[in-house]
Amino acid sequence: MTALATLLLVAQYGCWSHVQSLRTARRSFVIKDDRFHKEGDPINIKSGSVHYSRVPRAYWRDRLERAKALGLNAITTYVPWNFHEDVEGRFDFSEDRDVYAFADEARKLNLLLILRIGPYMCGEWDFGGFPAWLLTKANMTLRTHNKPYLDAVDKFWDHLLPRFKRRLYSNGGPIVMVQLENEFGDYGDCSANENDAAYMKHLYSKATQHLGTSVIYTTVSPARNLHKASPWRHDARVLATIDGPLSSSYDADFALQKAFNAKGNSPKMWTELWTGWYTHWGDSKAANRTAKDYGDGVKAMASDSNASFSLYMAHGGTSFGFWAGANILEGRYVADVTSYDYSAPISEDGTHQVGADGADGFAAVRNALHGTSEEPPPPVFRAYGAVVFEDEADLLAQDATCASTGWRTQEQLGQAHGFINYALTGPFPDRLAFSPSTLRDRVQVLADGVLVGSAYRGDAKNVSIALPSSMTRLDLLVENCGRVNYGRELVDDRKGLLEPPLDGTPSVSCLPLADLSAIEWHSIQPGRSPAAPRFYRGHLQVDAAHDTYLDTRGLSKGFIWVNGQNLGRFWETRGPQHTLYVPAPYLRRGANEVIILDLDGRTGLESVARPRWN
Ligand SMILES: *[C@@H]1O[C@H](CO)[C@@H](O)[C@H](O)[C@H]1NC(C)=O
Ligand SMILES: *[C@@H]1O[C@H](CO)[C@@H](O)[C@H](O)[C@H]1NC(C)=O
Ligand SMILES: *[C@@H]1O[C@H](CO)[C@@H](O)[C@H](O)[C@H]1NC(C)=O
Ligand SMILES: *[C@@H]1O[C@H](CO)[C@@H](O)[C@H](O)[C@H]1NC(C)=O
Repeated sequence: MTALATLLLVAQYGCWSHVQSLRTARRSFVIKDDRFHKEGDPINIKSGSVHYSRVPRAYWRDRLERAKALGLNAITTYVPWNFHEDVEGRFDFSEDRDVYAFADEARKLNLLLILRIGPYMCGEWDFGGFPAWLLTKANMTLRTHNKPYLDAVDKFWDHLLPRFKRRLYSNGGPIVMVQLENEFGDYGDCSANENDAAYMKHLYSKATQHLGTSVIYTTVSPARNLHKASPWRHDARVLATIDGPLSSSYDADFALQKAFNAKGNSPKMWTELWTGWYTHWGDSKAANRTAKDYGDGVKAMASDSNASFSLYMAHGGTSFGFWAGANILEGRYVADVTSYDYSAPISEDGTHQVGADGADGFAAVRNALHGTSEEPPPPVFRAYGAVVFEDEADLLAQDATCASTGWRTQEQLGQAHGFINYALTGPFPDRLAFSPSTLRDRVQVLADGVLVGSAYRGDAKNVSIALPSSMTRLDLLVENCGRVNYGRELVDDRKGLLEPPLDGTPSVSCLPLADLSAIEWHSIQPGRSPAAPRFYRGHLQVDAAHDTYLDTRGLSKGFIWVNGQNLGRFWETRGPQHTLYVPAPYLRRGANEVIILDLDGRTGLESVARPRWN
């Protein structure tokens, strides 16, 4: 609308809000004749997933512009519950967690938005987005019709949903679809279990209570599972959509989708088109698709003149902090790496993905989608050289945020992430045995403050560790390496030692590492300190802030913080990820504080310009 036309309307109707409502009255996004229609015209949604929780806020606009340049007209994002209510009853929608501001960025760029509000998301995110405190509730059963669970969901949605109302498409905002649950058919079964069907119906009624029925509600699952994922067979209230890998034809699955949905209410919608995959610590190499695969798979989808889709992922970003999740694969625990590059067309750092065939994955998708919108200039990377370390501090010498006794789990102590330590004063056996079924997830055994062994759940073997014959103190430092985010196992992934490895009652302390300001530092002493989990503090000198990577060569396993920002987990000795991404907004000109926690007490870190994998 031109300024003049607006003025004329204001003159005619007398007030601005009237004009606003006239403008929004024309906005409609509905399903008709098996197609999406926007303002009455058929439209295909060409979306891509970008998770605001995996991108620093200062880069939201940049990443959305890059996604638009791929040829997309929409963005899809999960809303991770634990990102907003990590502590029960304490809601956080500020700064990097301001999902409403993310929606507003999309709107400014004229991108539609598909919201996946869960409450479960999967997404290789800690506990599939569930807050850890759910594991402490008596009689709570996740992901089905269970009162304590639904009470918790309702409370969260009462905080989350109202502010989306004015951001719905029909109210002038970008949101055209709201997805309930996620791939529920891989977990529950709405066709065989009344409680599962009632659960999905509860989510629908709670969502409509806040958002009304003018937005399109969806479920998603592989096409073979639609009846398990959704109780709305032949029911136009909720659109069943499908997901799955790149292919040369999607017709068979779209036919199943159509057979399930109400007549005339089945626009072809492939909510997750898997452009790439995730990577686990210990994989031999990073997930790496060929650009030809993307190009061909996306082209096949786009060549269907009626198909709508969302790339999973358009841009994966980074699982900063403690947010990376884990899987159980053939009974074995595998933790996701920090990078969520996903082999997506826009790589972790915003550059064009280089596919396994050496070709440009971004260009392949942009060509397939005939993208025309301008791409922002490429990101600038800098190698700032070595971090100079000055101070050190032993992890176990630090004050804990909780102190208790007994073989308690993290959840019982009200702790969501990080480490827990069990300390005992003897008598001690000759050996300690750890089983992968009760070790959650990695233990380091320290005798009188010196490391004598470790065991990791993901190695899927029983480990026996010899103790020295004379010792007076035993510490069992246990790391939560990420909660399982998919499958039945997710409901029971409590962290700590689930079974005592020896007799005796330990003092137990919480080390969530959420706040490092109370660490008692002292200068690094010349000469070798014994191997033990240790922090090092140093400075990285920066003349102008650009993106960089920190190379963990020489380190073992742990975390890195830059200016207080937790960059996530590194595991140099496993790989395949050997660098942590540092976006420019986390840096400033001058001296930048860098803190390493290395679990074997190693030190040394260098800022480099490119990621190192495999
Ligand atoms: C849990 O269920 C049991 C058995 O139905 C009941 O006795 C108990 O009061 C319940 N606990 C809570 C906290 O609701
Ligand atoms: C696309 O949808 C229209 C309207 O529903 C239909 O007439 C046409 O056959 C469809 N084309 C394809 C390729 O599915
Ligand atoms: C994928 O393979 C290409 C070609 O070998 C390589 O250039 C690129 O770095 C690889 N990507 C990752 C994440 O390993
Ligand atoms: C570990 O030991 C337990 C008890 O001895 C045994 O039942 C289990 O099969 C063993 N697990 C593995 C992975 O070897």
